[in-house]
Amino acid sequence: APPPPRYTIGFSQCTTADAWRQAMLAGMHKELSFYPNVRFRLKDAHDDSRRQQQQIQEFLREGIDLLIVSANEAEPITPIVEEVFNRGIPVVILDRRTTSRLYTAYVGGNNQEVGQTAGRYVGNLLRGRGQVLEVLGAPGASPALDRHQGFAQGLAAYPGVRLTAQVHGDWKRPSVMDNLPAVLREHPEIDLIFAHNDRMALGAYQVCKRLGLDQRIRVVGVDGLPGNQGGIQFVQDGVLTATLLYPPGGEEAIRTAMKILRHQSYDKENTLGTMVIDSTNVLTMKLQTEKLTSQQQDIQRQQELLQRQRATYASQQTVLYSLAAA
Ligand code: FRU
Repeated sequence: APPPPRYTIGFSQCTTADAWRQAMLAGMHKELSFYPNVRFRLKDAHDDSRRQQQQIQEFLREGIDLLIVSANEAEPITPIVEEVFNRGIPVVILDRRTTSRLYTAYVGGNNQEVGQTAGRYVGNLLRGRGQVLEVLGAPGASPALDRHQGFAQGLAAYPGVRLTAQVHGDWKRPSVMDNLPAVLREHPEIDLIFAHNDRMALGAYQVCKRLGLDQRIRVVGVDGLPGNQGGIQFVQDGVLTATLLYPPGGEEAIRTAMKILRHQSYDKENTLGTMVIDSTNVLTMKLQTEKLTSQQQDIQRQQELLQRQRATYASQQTVLYSLAAA
């Protein structure tokens, strides 16, 4: 029989309902397959901060050796994460932060840098003149705040580019479909829309198209996921002018968690890089991510084969032992 799990990792996830979080989870499971002595528990807060507080409480009652958390909103999730940390349970913050310094390690992109890179790209694209509209992520989530601050800083180098209007989204496409049309009618002079993720960027493009503005207004997003419905494809199709890569970091989160649990040395801040994906490099990105996906599928097939062989071997051993005993 396999040895009982040695460590329990609890993952408090703000939502699992989008492709970016699914890619994160797939990365986690891939990395977890190297650690058969880990029990992995996921609780999905469905974009609800109160629910996320309760779920982290549950983890405390059930007993975990390490918490990974992506905070739906920074403020409301901070006290409970501090409590976990103060009880001596290591905390790995993944992507969305709390407001506290009480955590063991952070894994994820630098959202201020994402915003800054977007701001400089946009300023350059508009050749230093134009009007920009920003579609923000959910208020209270750290990436929305940091992307906004970084974007404003990046644009500051281009005094001829104005951040004219804002739409407050919730990371999801419908919020943009509902709120953007009125703002665009009020500001027909907008040249470019920067949306805090590709799903909202797609919504912005669809609104522009419906209003007959898609030839004039350019749209830039964030995430740059591979796949048919990912940002890389949107850039390839000309739906988005560009997207900023924001890696989900699932593998890195598990790797960091395991170093902490095994008392190996680790970095407190594990920052994943960003880059602009636009027409100049989208084909390369597409080919590379497709290659990566097919290699990951190969690894998964090898693991399945290995598991089948282990099972066969184990049953042969049983036969051998019973023969020897007879
Ligand atoms: C996925 C997502 C991404 C975004 C990230 C920010 O749930 O909305 O699109 O980059 O969360 O935390």
